[in-house]
Amino acid sequence: MTLLIKNIKELVGILPVDITRLCGAEMAQLSTIKNSYLIIENGFIIDFGSMNQLSLNNASHSLLTEIDATGKMVFPSFCDSHTHLVYAGSREIEYVDKIKGLSYEEIAKRGGGILNSAKLLHETSENDLFNSAWQRLEEIKMLGTGAVEIKSGYGLTVEDELKMLRVIKRLKTQSSLMIRATFLGAHAFPALYKNDQNGYVELIINEMIPAIASEELADFIDVFCDRGFFTEYQTEQILMAGLKYGMRPKIHANELDYSGGIQVGVKYEALSVDHLEFTGDEEINVLLNSETMPTLLPGAAFFLGMPYAPVRKMIDAGLGVALASDFNPGSSPSGNMQFILSMGCIKYKMLPEEAINATTINSAYAMGIGDETGSITKGKRANLFITTEVPSYQYMPYYFGHNKIETIILNGKIQ
Ligand code: NIG
Ligand code: FE
Repeated sequence: MTLLIKNIKELVGILPVDITRLCGAEMAQLSTIKNSYLIIENGFIIDFGSMNQLSLNNASHSLLTEIDATGKMVFPSFCDSHTHLVYAGSREIEYVDKIKGLSYEEIAKRGGGILNSAKLLHETSENDLFNSAWQRLEEIKMLGTGAVEIKSGYGLTVEDELKMLRVIKRLKTQSSLMIRATFLGAHAFPALYKNDQNGYVELIINEMIPAIASEELADFIDVFCDRGFFTEYQTEQILMAGLKYGMRPKIHANELDYSGGIQVGVKYEALSVDHLEFTGDEEINVLLNSETMPTLLPGAAFFLGMPYAPVRKMIDAGLGVALASDFNPGSSPSGNMQFILSMGCIKYKMLPEEAINATTINSAYAMGIGDETGSITKGKRANLFITTEVPSYQYMPYYFGHNKIETIILNGKIQ
């Protein structure tokens, strides 16, 4: 089947095939073609160019469907490289507590936070978990996300971590979104191990990781390496155990303090280190000499009223960065990547070009799929969206809080 999108006002995010991430000044480069066409065959982008170069020999036309995109733009789908979108219940009570003045850490210490989600998840069946996560997936799909990473970490027992990861596996096989699964058993210490934290680390290493690996449930391994959560030493032990089973690290670091988590992530060749509100010169230098993608989650800093990561400084120092939603019930109950794009510009002072690259090609890199998606490139999956009529691509982050997407195409199919 062949799909032709013609009269595109501007085709945005074109990259050569060998580019899988953009760093420093490259992030401000956004290649586009005005008044253009794009051709999709069998789910892949096979051709694009200027309308005046469109020749009907460019595609086999037996089954040609045409979309006229006059006044509208085409973008590569967003990649959301950090979410916790499988969860059992909302936590608006804690949100009200936060409004009244309690901090995220205080709520966690009272047994709220992640432990509250773990309790709810324990009481919820695998089917119910699947159904609610499916709804969230459908929601983010219609807001422009074409690929998403989903973490476990609300189980915190062998059985419940397996339950979460089995749900993610089912989502993977049934959804049109590209999904990657991350094992985050080291998200918090369960109440049972409150006074035996190393005992829980041993449970993760000796029981959880082997069981998860034997069912092939996780692509990546994550640890919340931060003040009051997992130490650098515990993080190293867990990452080493995961690596033995082929799970590449992607870690939570430096959200609450200078935790050393960025250094540990880079040491173990993490695909990404995420949050990074506390990032100084030392952390930036470590990241500069690495293949690790620093990933910012502005939704969490915004929702929790916490400091924002020094993104301008990071990019100006030469780093590439990714943006993701952190969609979860406690610190960022939104998976809207259009909002994240705006937050990148508003709160981090990213240029629209930088924020678009951070939510597409760089976030694809941060979930290990930059060779398949994240840009308009011949041979990549046809995962893209057509906007409503918009005056410019800068308008996408500018007109914040509105849905500016009209048509979603995943694997070449209109959704
Ligand atoms: O990425 N920082 C740790 N974990 C999540 C929050 C999870 C929760 O509060 O439920 C995060 O923000
Ligand atoms: Fe997170």
